[in-house]
Amino acid sequence: MAHPLRRSLHEHIRRWRGWVLALLAMVAVVLPAGSGGASGAPWRVGTDPTFPPFEYRNAQNGAISGFDIDLMQAIGEETGHPIQWVPLPFDGLIPALQARSVDAAISAMTITAQRSRAIDFSRPYFKAGQAIVVRANGPAYEQLAQLQGRRIAVQIGTTGALEASQVPGAKVSSFDSTPLALQELANGNADAVVSDVPAILYAIDQAKLTGLRISGEHLSTEFYGIALPMNSPITADVNRGLDALIRSGRYVDLYREWFAADPADLPERAPALDAASSPLAGLDLHVLALNLLKGAAITLMLTALSFSFGLMGGIALAVLLQAPWRLAHGLCRVYIDFFRGTPMLVQLFLIYFGLPALLQSMEVPFTINRLAAAVTALSLNVAAYLAETLRSGIESIDRGQWEAADALGLSPLERMRFVIAPQALRRVLPPLANEFITLIKDTSLAAVIGFDELFRQGQLMVATTYRAFEIYIAVALVYLLMTTTASLLFKRLEARWQLPA
Ligand code: ARG
Repeated sequence: MAHPLRRSLHEHIRRWRGWVLALLAMVAVVLPAGSGGASGAPWRVGTDPTFPPFEYRNAQNGAISGFDIDLMQAIGEETGHPIQWVPLPFDGLIPALQARSVDAAISAMTITAQRSRAIDFSRPYFKAGQAIVVRANGPAYEQLAQLQGRRIAVQIGTTGALEASQVPGAKVSSFDSTPLALQELANGNADAVVSDVPAILYAIDQAKLTGLRISGEHLSTEFYGIALPMNSPITADVNRGLDALIRSGRYVDLYREWFAADPADLPERAPALDAASSPLAGLDLHVLALNLLKGAAITLMLTALSFSFGLMGGIALAVLLQAPWRLAHGLCRVYIDFFRGTPMLVQLFLIYFGLPALLQSMEVPFTINRLAAAVTALSLNVAAYLAETLRSGIESIDRGQWEAADALGLSPLERMRFVIAPQALRRVLPPLANEFITLIKDTSLAAVIGFDELFRQGQLMVATTYRAFEIYIAVALVYLLMTTTASLLFKRLEARWQLPA
């Protein structure tokens, strides 16, 4: 007789065999179809799929689609290389190429002399230019120079960001994607967005981003190229494939399919590469230190504000949790569960982008500035976490103390203020320190709403110098300096508050 364990294993195999065979059959059918009979090594191609109609996630099936995607796929077929897509943030593409963690990147990336000092480009495959977008009911700005002193929202690391940064006195806030920058404008927190014409047209016409219009168009002429690591072995193949598609008319077909227009004439080489230009901004240590210092100051301010408000909220919640009221209890629990149980990133987006969008769709004019949004989100979180910490501290105080306070005739509030709280606070100091240190690091999330705190300052520098390792290690060290200082200060406080034995 078979061993019982072995038998059950056999049953399992029998039960699953059908499924496994079906799966294998599916793979066998799909594989050759997917690779189009390609025989060469696959190419890993990076893209930032937040830039329709060039690259975006198809809302129905989540697949990466777009003009760039079809074009690259066609180049792969032409040259016999299957394409493996690697979604990356736009400002991470050049560092990824430098690190050779991708073989190429296609992302509506403009060929610039500056970028070509860090990476190589294929021949141009698209002609575009920058435009200024404004709110339909707001003032128009036709030239970049008119944006002096205005608030401009851009996507980090793009040519639009570069143009905006050169407008004197403009307050530029950078976002991880162009849709977020446009949302910032729609919400009334920026006066203009500078980005590529075709992408903006698409956002306004197709994505039905209401309330926005283009006010200045074709402020520059740019050509997109496929980005490749310096001296990449596949550059020649990519160019050969692209040339073949242009010659065979397949390129024109694709262009018409996506833009319902005929493509402009493309030069063999982007003029930008031959224009005299400033050399690649080196990593100036002075500038780095200055920017990190600026970022650190903002990080500290965010931490201090959020911790103060969070502590107040946490104390209020902990006290309410002691109260004999059922309803208050229930509400506190819901609050704590919500803010501890959902990612802070989501809360931040909800408060900063979601709330104004909702209220404005209900015709309520409402905008929230980023400091208020960041401090609100961070404080609400700190309060939720500290409520539990403080509650356990309060409950750890011996019942005898409570009774003694009662016997002395103290009111419940006085009992808390003079007897329980001071002892509880001393006990919860170590977890409080933990929360503070966590908060210092969590402020980096505010970067997503365009806050130039420490991490974003680093990101911004990487976007112009492409020195990812040096800059991020410096950023990490500054955070480390702040967290270790905080932990030392808390240790001191703990020693100071120690009861004499
Ligand atoms: N053409 C602009 C640039 O090269 C913007 C490209 C943005 N692309 C994207 N997938 N987000 O900077």
